[in-house]
Amino acid sequence: MSNEKLSASVAGKVSLGGELSVNRLGFGAMRLTGEGIWGPPKDRKRALNVLRRAVELEVNFIDTADSYGPYVNEELIAEALFPYPSGFVIATKGGWNRPGPNQWTHDATPSHLRKAVEGSLKRLRLDCIDVYQLHIPDPVVSFNASVETLAELRNEGKIRLVALSNVTQEHIERARKIVPIVSVQNRYSFADREWDYVVRYCQQNGFAFIPWFPLGAGKVAGEVLDRIAGAHGVNPTQIALAWLLRRSSIMLPIPGTSSIEHLEQNVSAASLRLTGEEFEELSEVSELVGSR
Ligand SMILES: NC(=O)c1ccc[n+]([C@@H]2O[C@H](COP(=O)([O-])OP(=O)(O)OC[C@H]3O[C@@H](n4cnc5c(N)ncnc54)[C@H](OP(=O)(O)O)[C@@H]3O)[C@@H](O)[C@H]2O)c1
Repeated sequence: MSNEKLSASVAGKVSLGGELSVNRLGFGAMRLTGEGIWGPPKDRKRALNVLRRAVELEVNFIDTADSYGPYVNEELIAEALFPYPSGFVIATKGGWNRPGPNQWTHDATPSHLRKAVEGSLKRLRLDCIDVYQLHIPDPVVSFNASVETLAELRNEGKIRLVALSNVTQEHIERARKIVPIVSVQNRYSFADREWDYVVRYCQQNGFAFIPWFPLGAGKVAGEVLDRIAGAHGVNPTQIALAWLLRRSSIMLPIPGTSSIEHLEQNVSAASLRLTGEEFEELSEVSELVGSR
């Protein structure tokens, strides 16, 4: 590991629609809730301290959603960090609800999205949300109608930038005919490459790509990760993050944790440099995982 300072800025910057620029290592706040992403965290003070430490480490992009808790996550962010430092970007989401622990229900109807944006504005204590993501397309609501609603809310000044999550390239193509799209958030890691083609599409079109669940799973992934992590004297999570940062300059990882120690480890991955050989070996893991 190099001696570069412990800061998310070491990862460089990524542009959000040419309007905002953030350090290329963000924070996913979802884990700062109770079990099953439900209710308040067991230790509220610890959760608030994780958020404050993230900002000290120059993390200036935090991902959340109205459904985390529900509501708890956005409330915690405001409690820990309001008034927000200059250049600090919150990306929240709506359209996927949390009716109970580990349960999800869709609602991306125009009326729900309007209510959801009003609720997020209030909880986050903002007049305008910098990045608002459609959490997931709703199978029983016209995708265009959901995106048109976000475009209207943008015209009304309640959302600055519109983004998507859990989408295919076709969704992105349809959405950008309605409103400029600045980022896409899909599940992705070195061992989980289903959305590689969406990463390529984002790169070609200058959108940021936000991988969720950035730590690769599975036995094969573990074997390769552990060996490379051992060679660098770091933990496997840091290697998984270093791979993402090297994968593409539009990649904006948002590792989530409820621990300050893990947060610091994750931020320090910004200064970790994989060799070309290590990068290639990790890149091949998804094929090995698929073939077992
Ligand atoms: N758009 C979507 O549909 C969607 C879905 C899921 C998540 N997300 C977003 O993506 C973010 C990240 O996803 P995620 O939380 O599912 O996955 P993740 O960041 O890959 O993994 C989080 C898990 O890894 C552990 N961890 C984190 N850093 C670690 C470290 N240095 N060493 C050891 N363990 C570590 C955490 O436990 P500890 O708390 O013990 O550190 C936690 O259990 C979420 O916070 C959320 O904002 C979006």
